[in-house]
Amino acid sequence: MDNLRFYIQTFGCQMNDHDSAVLARLLEEQGHLEVETAEGADVILLNTCAIRERAEQKVYSQLGRYRFLKEKRPEIVLGVGGCVAQGEGRKVLRRAPYVDLVFGTRTLHRVPELVEAVRSGRRQVVATALDDDPVALATLYAHAAGRGPRAYVTVMQGCDNYCAYCVVPYVRGRELSRPADELVEEVRRLAAEGVVEVTLLGQNVNSYGQKPPGEVDFPSLLRHVAAVDGIRRVRFTTSHPKDLSDDLIRAFAEVPGVMPHIHLPVQSGADRVLTAMNRRYTVAHYLGLVERLRRLRPDIALTSDLIVGFPGETDAEFEATLALMEQVVFDGLFSFKYSLRPGTRAAELTDPVPEAVKEERLARLQRLQGEHSLRRNRAMEGQVFSVLVEGGSKVGDGQVMGRTPQNKIVNFAGEVAWRAREVPVRVTAAAVNSSRGEAVGPAG
Ligand code: SAH
Ligand code: SF4
Ligand code: F3S
Repeated sequence: MDNLRFYIQTFGCQMNDHDSAVLARLLEEQGHLEVETAEGADVILLNTCAIRERAEQKVYSQLGRYRFLKEKRPEIVLGVGGCVAQGEGRKVLRRAPYVDLVFGTRTLHRVPELVEAVRSGRRQVVATALDDDPVALATLYAHAAGRGPRAYVTVMQGCDNYCAYCVVPYVRGRELSRPADELVEEVRRLAAEGVVEVTLLGQNVNSYGQKPPGEVDFPSLLRHVAAVDGIRRVRFTTSHPKDLSDDLIRAFAEVPGVMPHIHLPVQSGADRVLTAMNRRYTVAHYLGLVERLRRLRPDIALTSDLIVGFPGETDAEFEATLALMEQVVFDGLFSFKYSLRPGTRAAELTDPVPEAVKEERLARLQRLQGEHSLRRNRAMEGQVFSVLVEGGSKVGDGQVMGRTPQNKIVNFAGEVAWRAREVPVRVTAAAVNSSRGEAVGPAG
């Protein structure tokens, strides 16, 4: 087999980022070479996202650009994978007939072989089976690697929650947890390669271990992972408020290494909307969780996701969302205009919120969040945090960048040789997205 230059472009969430990194490693192990741009690549792969309409459009406009490269060099293999490919299957080829390969969210492990099939003359290969295949999962993630001191570990695939607006259950398939012993082994291997922080990934990690049954639950998995030699920090995402147990809340206080940050998407501050979204909790339940988290771990940072303009959302319901924000004061927030996804339950609702109203609501919400993020970050000023150094900083010479236990970015004067080490840093000036600080002790 020839050694090929490949380029992967990734859209979407951390799961896709991680999948692309694993795919890159898989291809490298076969002797191929990853390159930084599509120009000059023999194989161009897109790992796509379907979460909102705009994400999907981006894929097709990007494909249009690669079409020109292919016209110049027809031997290029152009592949589309990930969530759009999974949802569209063969239809991708109808919209973009110059595409050679369509692979899904559960056929990543087959990509090297599929690329070869295209190169040996089979035009237009489509492989989008969505089966539960624990062996394939194990084979794929055996190639997981860290990025410097940090690594992702995919603990489960798919989602069975069917939130009314969401395409994920359709494009990522049924919920499937990986065996705990396999995960702990993966973390051990990563630690041996120099990783000190792992982030456990899943659409709803709180239900880890339920499907298939017989596995340990998520708090136990956390304990096992945190106990691995060399692992200093453990994070996880995403948590679903309906499944966040007391046991897991206690883990923030009891398990050394579990970092004081939780991403807990709330989606709306109005109970009627939450019901229509099929989220299966109330605002009161959510606020109760926040209260317990903060009682047990007062320094915990809280981030969330919110959607504005879900069908039928009234002004009063939107105001309720702002009121919830005022009550919680999130450290950070991802906010989105509702986007209709064909095939989901919400696609059948008849009462769309006009685009202009959605925009206005989003702008108000983001303005409020800007104030809250700043308020939360300013509260760090003068305090000392243990910062895990990730590398040189974008802000300039002699500065390094790292994160506090709360996952806040801090830039400070230091040496790149401190990478993967923890440094006590006093925060001197906070801004919305990152802070400045000064080291007040040696790198540990
Ligand atoms: N599994 C995670 C997140 C999945 S997607 C969870 O349950 O929270 C990330 C975020 O995208 C969601 O939390 C939601 O806020 C947003 N999102 C999902 N579908 C959307 C849609 N159709 N329109 C707008 N935002 C959406
Ligand atoms: Fe989508 Fe809901 Fe599953 Fe999250 S829990 S991925 S929002 S269906
Ligand atoms: Fe997008 Fe798929 Fe992630 S739809 S958000 S890349 S699971």
